[in-house]
Amino acid sequence: PRLFALVPAAGVGERSGAGMPKQYVDIAGRPMLAHTLAALAAVPRLAQTLVVLSPQDDRFEAAVPGYAGWLARVGGASRAESVLGGLAELRRRGVGEGDWVLVHDAARCLLRPEWVDALIDACLPDAVGGLLAQPVADTLKAGDAQGRVAATIDRRDKWAAQTPQMFRLGLVERALTAMGAAATDEASAVEALGLAPQLVRASMANFKVTWPEDFALAGRLLQPGCL
Ligand code: C5P
Repeated sequence: PRLFALVPAAGVGERSGAGMPKQYVDIAGRPMLAHTLAALAAVPRLAQTLVVLSPQDDRFEAAVPGYAGWLARVGGASRAESVLGGLAELRRRGVGEGDWVLVHDAARCLLRPEWVDALIDACLPDAVGGLLAQPVADTLKAGDAQGRVAATIDRRDKWAAQTPQMFRLGLVERALTAMGAAATDEASAVEALGLAPQLVRASMANFKVTWPEDFALAGRLLQPGCL
């Protein structure tokens, strides 16, 4: 089986307060999405990367000049719909049922090729697949509408799910189709089929750039020699 990356980049990035889709915000001299794609391009075992854009996107060509990978303007209203559109596009391009797909958020622009390699090494011999993740270090609180603690959640077995998430095309397509827009990642949809994806530890630095203050932090971490 071959390996492919699928990058959903069709979100609007409302929480970022950036006034434009966050994947196009400049971080350390380049749009966020350009950093993400460069990290994936540095993984030789990936046969190809497919970027999923919104049909209205008019920024990609200027943001990632000379991009030589695959592109599809099939983004939907939710992340899951964007990924499903991308999976259908992979099928149209000849990717097979048993080929592996690594779905990676455009907004995780700090990705390091060595973390992707660790995921691939762990998942290739695995019957289900898996995801990069980080054990939770903080004590977790559930909050109420007034910003007060409603409950404390046992952190001992908790992991923060990251991406890439690596599953075979046929499985992840079946899983997301069954779960629909409610799936915020691929693993949760696979879990709903009764399967247990593998947790592969990466780094806290593989965070999803989301809030206004995240951009400056990502910019510092992207300085040469930092990560
Ligand atoms: O919204 P969230 O933070 O979960 O987005 C994670 C990734 O999914 C981002 O890279 C975003 O661009 C993408 N996304 C998408 N289509 C949507 C919503 C999010 O491709 N409708």
